[in-house]
Amino acid sequence: MKIAVIGTGYVGLVTGTCFANMGNTVWCVDVDEKKIENLKRGIIPIYEPGLSEMVLNNFKQRNLNFTTKIQEALEVCNICFIAVGTPMGEDGSADLHYVLDVAESIGKYMSHHMYVVDKSTVPVGTAEKVYTRIQEELSKRESNLTFDVISNPEFLKEGNAISDCMKPDRIVIGINNEDAEEIMRELYKPYLMNTENFIVMDIASAEMTKYAANSMLATKISFMNEISNICERVGADINKIRKGIGSDKRIGYSFIYPGCGYGGSCFPKDVKALIKTADEYGYGAPLLQSVEEVNNTQKLVLVEKVKQRFSTNLLGKVFAVWGLAFKPDTDDMRESAAITIIEELTELGAEIQAYDPKAMDEARECYLKGNERVTYCESKYDALKGADALVLVTEWKEFRSPDFYEIKERLRNPVIFDGRNQYSAKSLAKYGLDYYQIGVRPSVEVTA
Ligand code: UDX
Repeated sequence: MKIAVIGTGYVGLVTGTCFANMGNTVWCVDVDEKKIENLKRGIIPIYEPGLSEMVLNNFKQRNLNFTTKIQEALEVCNICFIAVGTPMGEDGSADLHYVLDVAESIGKYMSHHMYVVDKSTVPVGTAEKVYTRIQEELSKRESNLTFDVISNPEFLKEGNAISDCMKPDRIVIGINNEDAEEIMRELYKPYLMNTENFIVMDIASAEMTKYAANSMLATKISFMNEISNICERVGADINKIRKGIGSDKRIGYSFIYPGCGYGGSCFPKDVKALIKTADEYGYGAPLLQSVEEVNNTQKLVLVEKVKQRFSTNLLGKVFAVWGLAFKPDTDDMRESAAITIIEELTELGAEIQAYDPKAMDEARECYLKGNERVTYCESKYDALKGADALVLVTEWKEFRSPDFYEIKERLRNPVIFDGRNQYSAKSLAKYGLDYYQIGVRPSVEVTA
């Protein structure tokens, strides 16, 4: 098939590359000339395991093409995916202007029937807006060309996106005619082990499915974080409770890991956007509001522990921070708990020695830009030198089994604050390290 993918951000680039990898011919389109030039030279704008090799390979085979000219792509393709960003607007709603700009261009430049597929995460009703915008442009041209708008939300997880795309657990399609269903079925057939996982529904339900999935997962996390906060107060251990409840198949083990809050490009934005949509229809969505509130507070839980252990005045204190990305295997720092934690600690006077395997450039150039109290270190052990304590924010594999002797040796105080419950309190006690984790009372040998 010949497919245009508009937007070479995270979703567009991964999706386009995976379509090309299955033998389709794909044109990835972006307005950012520098990005397209770089992609043509094999420079990939994001870190995602396996993506770079796949882009290079398919580009060489000419299955994957990059261009800034949408009309070029529309001339040769009959399926056009919209995969541009839907950033959070000031009022919390999804900002649709990039999506609608693309719809306008499609209406302006399409030269034959087009299947227009919405991949971007968009509120219910967006497909109709896309339809109207394309139709308006066609009417201006006095054109009788026809097109279908299809909703096909993505469920990619950063760090695992290639595998999620090549072997999806389900494909959700929102359509209003059978032709559109047929072409989508054909496109996705090679990716699905089981045709039952090709789920067809009306467009509004498909648009809503994406928000419901992300809000459900965010709810599981905030629920566990709330239980953690109760655990700490009553003297129970969330790590044991996680196993105790996860063994119930109805609950399951996934997405019940407590931590210092969820981040990323999806959960915070999508929960907010769904609250906003509900509000527009006169419903307050109290559960979703609480999910968000618990998460905002959770990002500060480690800071509270630091203040209790040290003081509310952290002038002269130095903290090693391990992990800046919102989760492992990505350089993405959007809504990362690390931002909130570092801003708060430095606000209280502390100096930060940070280390992350992939996200330090992002931090330096964007998310912590201008924060002069932050120093970036070459290695996790360099970050510890002379620090008063270690604060672990992201559970990268290289932090799983560190040399605890080395940690103790390098720190001024033998203290670890762990936002991802990576270690065993018992073994840390053997090394003489005080250990603060989420949802468990601290195991403290030494007092500051
Ligand atoms: C998410 C969805 O999982 C994916 O289906 C959707 O398409 C996009 O949004 P992503 O944002 O890449 O994917 O990350 P995910 O692995 O879901 O983690 C999101 C956040 O939740 C991270 O900050 C992570 O640390 C946190 N998390 C996850 C927890 O705190 N506890 C858990 O048990 C799981």
